[in-house]
Amino acid sequence: MNVNQLCMNCMMGMVDEKGVCAICHSSNDSIRNTDRHLPLGSILRGKYIVGRVLGEGGFGITYIGLDLDLQARVAIKEFCPRDSVSRETTNHLTLLPYDKESEEFFEEEKEKFLNEARRLGKFRGQEGIVSVMDYFKENGTAYIVMEYIEGLNLKKYLGSLDSRMKVQEVLTLLKPVLKTLNMMHEENLIHRDISPDNIMICKDQKRVCLIDFGSAREVNGEHSLSVYKKGSYTPLEQQSRNGKQGPWTDVYALCAMMYYCITGRDIPEAVERTMEEKLIPPSKLGVEIPEHVEQAILNGLVLNPSNRTQNVGELMKELYDSQGAGKVAEKNLATPVMEVAPEPKKEEQQRQEVVPQEVVQKDAIQTPPVKEQSNGLLKLGIVIAIVFVIFKVIQAAIILPQYQEMQQRQEQFQQEYEATKQRIEATKQEVQQQQEQFQKDYEANKKKIEEMQQKFN
Ligand SMILES: Nc1ncnc2c1ncn2[C@@H]1O[C@H](COP(=O)(O)OP(=O)(O)OP(=O)(O)O)[C@@H](O)[C@H]1O
Ligand SMILES: [Mg+2]
Repeated sequence: MNVNQLCMNCMMGMVDEKGVCAICHSSNDSIRNTDRHLPLGSILRGKYIVGRVLGEGGFGITYIGLDLDLQARVAIKEFCPRDSVSRETTNHLTLLPYDKESEEFFEEEKEKFLNEARRLGKFRGQEGIVSVMDYFKENGTAYIVMEYIEGLNLKKYLGSLDSRMKVQEVLTLLKPVLKTLNMMHEENLIHRDISPDNIMICKDQKRVCLIDFGSAREVNGEHSLSVYKKGSYTPLEQQSRNGKQGPWTDVYALCAMMYYCITGRDIPEAVERTMEEKLIPPSKLGVEIPEHVEQAILNGLVLNPSNRTQNVGELMKELYDSQGAGKVAEKNLATPVMEVAPEPKKEEQQRQEVVPQEVVQKDAIQTPPVKEQSNGLLKLGIVIAIVFVIFKVIQAAIILPQYQEMQQRQEQFQQEYEATKQRIEATKQEVQQQQEQFQKDYEANKKKIEEMQQKFN
């Protein structure tokens, strides 16, 4: 195989004399990996050819690749924490930490990256999870080689649809992912980054896979896990150093993702939910959903981790078994932790299906009961007062030094003015004296001239 002619977009076809691939019709000239990425055609471990970038996050860069031994396409993830390393500019391969502090962090996290690959090796061949084929260190960093999944991630897939997904479709699609996650949890491994961009859907839609285990960690009770935040999918315990993370953390993200698939909108972020923001049940947004499935999703979205569905096994029972859901509904009644928006009238339901998210949220806030309204007014008043005080303090902090400087300058001007005035007065007196003297001299001279004239006459 002539590697120089390999298409860097699909890694399957060869490019013709014009540089265009016979299979995917893309041109190698149109693909550019930037200086931050590995150059196109780089070879890792003597057998993996690196192609275009598939995706890039805060911790890693994922490339399409070709395994020369197996003649199979692969996905290669390079450990590359954005804030800690840059690529060497002579060979364009090696990653170099920015400084001593970055180096310590980089080395520590690199080991964790490889440890997760080792653990994931256990799940190789399982449906619902991407298979890890190889992992190694090179170019000063670490790499994980995975099977290549031809398709789209769930985020892009949803974006390509004309409508929201049906509840049954979501339940069928995600079942293998739930099963695998349950197995992972039994091995004390939590994913911690479940979101629509970390679920791959094969082109033929026959398979869905969980990817991106960069944040996955082993839980052993005492372990304090790092703080992490990714919008609507991150529960409260993941945003605090003291939060106890466990399988329930993945349950929250899974339920937030299901909510997104069936309603087409993200749930409010956990912190916003602790304040004013309400979580509207899917049925109130016009989604046709069996009661027990809705209850199961809401149980997984409870803010307090100890009142939430504890693991994926429990969640599956609630989602797929209507008998299980009966018990769950009772449990939820005993621990009402979720605020629910008022049920819309029938004709409004139709409207809610088409109006954009912000409008619906605004409507939900615009019609609170009278007591809430006066509370709301009081809160609004307090907020305005606080904002006013903050504004005044900021104003004083900015204007006061300027004012003092101006005052000093004015005093200086005043002094200079007084001194100049005195100087002018003195000069004036001097000129007057000189004028008087001239006058006297003039008079004296005049007198002398007259005397001399008289003598002459
Ligand atoms: N095995 C794979 N097969 C095909 N495409 C993949 C594969 N793995 C990842 N991708 C694509 O690359 C994108 C980024 O991958 P991934 O989610 O692993 O990393 P990331 O989110 O960019 O980085 P980080 O680990 O820093 O969060 C995915 O959204 C997907 O589109
Ligand atoms: Mg990702």
